[in-house]
Amino acid sequence: MRVVVIGGTGHVGTYLVPRLVEGGYEVILVSRAKRQPYRPHAVWSKVRRLCLDRAADEATGAFGPKIRDLKPDVVIDMISFTLDSTHHLVEALRGEIQHFLSCGTIWVHGHSVEVPTVESQPRRPFGQYGIQKAAIEEYLLDQSRRHGFPATIIHPGHIVGPGWVPLNPAGHFNSQVFATLARGGELALPNLGLETVHHVHADDVAQCFVNAMTCRSTALGESFHCVSSAALTLRGYAEAVSSWFGRAARLRFLPWETWRTTVTEEEAEATWDHIAHSPNCSTEKARRLLHYEPRYTSLEAVYESVQWLIEKQQLVV
Ligand SMILES: NC(=O)c1ccc[n+]([C@@H]2O[C@H](COP(=O)([O-])OP(=O)(O)OC[C@H]3O[C@@H](n4cnc5c(N)ncnc54)[C@H](OP(=O)(O)O)[C@@H]3O)[C@@H](O)[C@H]2O)c1
Repeated sequence: MRVVVIGGTGHVGTYLVPRLVEGGYEVILVSRAKRQPYRPHAVWSKVRRLCLDRAADEATGAFGPKIRDLKPDVVIDMISFTLDSTHHLVEALRGEIQHFLSCGTIWVHGHSVEVPTVESQPRRPFGQYGIQKAAIEEYLLDQSRRHGFPATIIHPGHIVGPGWVPLNPAGHFNSQVFATLARGGELALPNLGLETVHHVHADDVAQCFVNAMTCRSTALGESFHCVSSAALTLRGYAEAVSSWFGRAARLRFLPWETWRTTVTEEEAEATWDHIAHSPNCSTEKARRLLHYEPRYTSLEAVYESVQWLIEKQQLVV
């Protein structure tokens, strides 16, 4: 089967493309060729790479037809962020492919009601990113269930892996938080530190996409969370990381308005986005219907990523 992966050299593509090639699929990779995958792998030489700029080609209406002309059996769209973008592609591919897989996000949920959150909970997204991803999901599910377009949506949590900085225990991306915990320094956390984050290793996201293709008949017309087996509280996450470095955590808790003044505006914005969502998602549906079995806990995924930062001297501890 021929699989076109749109945006296949990023966090997920680094693991997804090798899994597909090893599984016997013919892979065509679409990207602007600006970046390379995070890990070298012999299979990349077997992958046909097509240099396209989605945004530029969408503007002229050429993107969808260019993907259709590759004659794929399966299209994996890793990088759609607006309903218009997905709509354009679906119109070009209607009646032409066996399976369309779109990468969403657990941000489609906004605030949760019952946790772990299940896929069937009503969507109450906030923020443009989550609102657009929820609109894409609603559109694709409708296209699949009522109009026979063969779509599946995979919603990852915070994607982690060696090669980039993981979401840290303070809910932002400054790697110095790990250095502080490593030297036994004091770390301030917002509120009681009981808001949650939900990571997933990039290879587990890749596993979920491949399993959805294999379990096509149960995956069609469905969306799935793709997260580790359990979310972390910020406090628990900080304590575990300290202990991993052989330290006892020294944590201080500050009301949000005070805490935000202790970090940069960018860090405060990232933390707010994460704790306002406080994701805690169920993997039960993906396990049951796709045989999804995450290999990494959240902490295992984070440790592998932090270890990489240390080895590459991007983090001095
Ligand atoms: N990161 C997270 O924690 C997270 C969490 C939940 C959901 N998600 C979802 O995951 C998806 C992103 O996956 P990822 O993290 O693996 O991606 P990524 O690391 O951001 O990589 C993006 C890929 O798309 C290509 N690309 C970017 N702009 C392009 C364009 N205009 N035309 C063609 N190719 C383009 C990039 O290569 P070039 O730059 O060379 O073109 C690269 O291959 C998104 O749908 C996002 O909403 C991410």
